[in-house]
Amino acid sequence: MSSSNATPAKRATFSGRNAFILAAIGSAVGLGNIWRFPYTTYENGGGAFIIPYIVALLTAGIPLLFLDFAIGHRHRGAAPLSFRRLNRHFEVFGWWQVLVNVIIGIYYAVVLGWAAVYTYFSLTKAWGDKPVDFFVGEFLKMGDIANGISFEFVGMVVGPLIAVWIIALIVLALGVEKGIAKSSSILMPVLVTMFIVLVISSLFLPGAAKGLNALFTPDWTKLADPSVWIAAYGQIFFSLSICFGIMITYSSYLKKDADLTGTGMVVGFANSSFEVLAGIGVFAALGFMATAAGQEVSEVAKGGIGLAFFAFPTIINEVPMGTLLGVLFFGSLTFAALTSFISVIEVIIATVQDKLKFGRVASTFIVGLPMMAVSVVLFGTTTGLPMLDVMDKFVNNFGIVAVAFASLVAIVAKGKLSMLGHHINKTSSIKVGTFWRLSVVVTTGVLAFMLFSEAIKVSNEGYENYPSWFVNSFGWGMAVALVIVAFILSRLKWHNETEFNLENE
Ligand code: ALA
Repeated sequence: MSSSNATPAKRATFSGRNAFILAAIGSAVGLGNIWRFPYTTYENGGGAFIIPYIVALLTAGIPLLFLDFAIGHRHRGAAPLSFRRLNRHFEVFGWWQVLVNVIIGIYYAVVLGWAAVYTYFSLTKAWGDKPVDFFVGEFLKMGDIANGISFEFVGMVVGPLIAVWIIALIVLALGVEKGIAKSSSILMPVLVTMFIVLVISSLFLPGAAKGLNALFTPDWTKLADPSVWIAAYGQIFFSLSICFGIMITYSSYLKKDADLTGTGMVVGFANSSFEVLAGIGVFAALGFMATAAGQEVSEVAKGGIGLAFFAFPTIINEVPMGTLLGVLFFGSLTFAALTSFISVIEVIIATVQDKLKFGRVASTFIVGLPMMAVSVVLFGTTTGLPMLDVMDKFVNNFGIVAVAFASLVAIVAKGKLSMLGHHINKTSSIKVGTFWRLSVVVTTGVLAFMLFSEAIKVSNEGYENYPSWFVNSFGWGMAVALVIVAFILSRLKWHNETEFNLENE
């Protein structure tokens, strides 16, 4: 069967290369860049981390981005349909990826909501003199997970959470071009401008050089530690949005003659440039914080929630023009997270469209409303923070890494790499060959190592002192449930079986 017969009649497309590039960079640049990269670099050898990071980018990030692009572009579906068209036994990987996005989506919205509220809080420095107490106590009203899960809702969290869901769903209901592409074309230039102003302002703070020294002073001994390499690969997967369905879905909206590799290079290097910029801005500000408190950078350096909601409010309290810095930092976090959040939810909406043949608006609300409800019930409560922490840890380490490993094994074992490489080379400016195939194979091995070493570590040590019932249900239980539910979903019949048999095209 030819692909033209097999392609559903009116699949949406991005109007051009730039629209796609902005949307893909919008997806890639998110929390992973702003709050994860700087601290991961600092913790894993500083300047020396650049080596594993570049190796991971060149041998895993860019090659797997090309692979995702090839799968989505050739098979013109969201992840389950594209994988099914690649080989009918592969559909389960697509559903597994969709479910990974369901988990990421329900908690990503919460952090996005917090960032949006903190942009507003920056105007009055509403967190007062004790930002940590404010965040945990007054803002989240955090309870102790040892007492069980609470269903006591926190108004200051639930309101913004619902608001960000509504905004994202409106954008998504507008469709690929008028919603996703249009919003990225507005938000990305604003984000980049705000972020550059933020980084330049941070560089002028007293003590900035101390922060940059701490970040970039290389600790070469770290290169012998496998966990540093695992950190580099983990960073690249989450940050580039690869191997969990997003880039497959976005590339399914590319025109037939798209230059996949040229576009992939732009997306990959833009994402990494943004990360390095974030590292510089964040550590310059932390250098100021350490200097002002007469401490070492190691005493104030933090990543994730601690960086954004503890360290930055403290910095904003102390710098001249703190309000401006606050609006720039939390505003950047909000815009970066919003465009990534939209891409996460798009994977699920596009799947519902493929599978149930509903229209765009109906699919958006079928997906969005139940997810919004789950998001509010699980994370809008006084136990939302530990829930988020455990789900984030497990969906990354045992969701994204596991599905990436399993799908790559299948693709390599079934001999699909050459065919996908051939597809890339038909329209691309930079051709792929042996190095690309070898990179995919080697990365599969690296993923196996990451998966098993992390599984052994977490099994032996638990995770962050949380009670084992909690980690077993929302961590391990959730990760295993993704595979089981994905398998069940992959058994459901498609509307028109003949549409999906592209294997021998
Ligand atoms: N790539 C997105 C991020 O970095 C998911 O946050």
